[in-house]
Amino acid sequence: MKALVTGGAGYIGSHLVDRLIAAGFDVTVLDDLSTGKHTNIAHLDNKVEFHHDSILNEALVDKLVKNSDVVYHLAAAVGVGNIIAKPLESIITNARGSDVVLQACANHGTKVVLASTSEIYGKTSKMPMSEEDDRLLGSTSISRWSYSTAKALDEHLALEYSRNGLPVSIVRYFNSFGPRIDFKGYGSVVANFIRQALAGEPLTVHGDGSQSRCFTYIADTVEGTFLAGTVKSAEGSVFNIGNDVEITINDLAERIKAASDSMSEITHISYESRYGKAFEDTKRRVPDLTRARNVLGYSPTTSLDEGLRLTLDWWRREHR
Ligand SMILES: NC(=O)c1ccc[n+]([C@@H]2O[C@H](COP(=O)([O-])OP(=O)(O)OC[C@H]3O[C@@H](n4cnc5c(N)ncnc54)[C@H](O)[C@@H]3O)[C@@H](O)[C@H]2O)c1
Repeated sequence: MKALVTGGAGYIGSHLVDRLIAAGFDVTVLDDLSTGKHTNIAHLDNKVEFHHDSILNEALVDKLVKNSDVVYHLAAAVGVGNIIAKPLESIITNARGSDVVLQACANHGTKVVLASTSEIYGKTSKMPMSEEDDRLLGSTSISRWSYSTAKALDEHLALEYSRNGLPVSIVRYFNSFGPRIDFKGYGSVVANFIRQALAGEPLTVHGDGSQSRCFTYIADTVEGTFLAGTVKSAEGSVFNIGNDVEITINDLAERIKAASDSMSEITHISYESRYGKAFEDTKRRVPDLTRARNVLGYSPTTSLDEGLRLTLDWWRREHR
């Protein structure tokens, strides 16, 4: 079986490539290295066909999809900081880029797994979040919602192609973390806290820190994605992929401080000073995993503490 992974040099994509190769797939990666790194897949050099190019290159995408049995579409402009810094570029990548990939899959009848996001749910207060729930978004004058909107358009497109007979499944990720997470890029909160704790800098919590998230270790993120591409009954559906154990950002900071034996203090900064005036955050985000459990046989297996230990071990090895 031949798999094409768009965004395969990125954080999640590169781990998915490892998983696919271990399962015996021939893997092709298409990545423009805007946030991904070649070093993420360098250990696979002779096992992966790598194309340093964009998903906006229609002719190339069509050619690569034609030669594949399954496409995992992960390439995207990612991260709230990134979306706010480059709003237009992000919308074009996430809306037009996915259109190009899905159109090529439709042209050749190629199965596709689309990477979506828990941002889809917006600022709804209904917990846990189930795949069929309503979405609640802020105004279009607030750039952050363009990510959710573009990903929702991708999902709509994918589901319409599915109704026309294309094998499609969609995964909505909830805050993934683990080795290869980007400490310099858009910065997940786990990456920022680990970097700050190990550098002896203050851990900067945005807002009052009472907002909560469910953090998912990378092996669990990847397993859910792999299953979405291999379980036949997953076709035509959307799945939450995450861990359903909730933690406040204040508690996360304490947990990372303790796990890294750091003397850093924990400070709070306003959202405004980090993201500017027009910013809105979501208070809680908890996945309902019922469908992923029932259809995919998915269940997260790595606890937050174990995941943090593995991530810290990796970080220390990388920065020796
Ligand atoms: N990390 C998370 O917790 C999380 C949460 C929700 C959704 N997601 C989704 O998962 C996917 C992977 O995200 P990630 O966290 O690994 O981030 P990442 O930035 O490491 O991965 C995205 C990859 O896409 C590549 N890319 C960007 N624009 C491209 C283009 N035009 N053409 C080709 N390649 C391009 C980047 O270089 C990068 O390698 C994305 O679709 C993202 O929206 C991630």
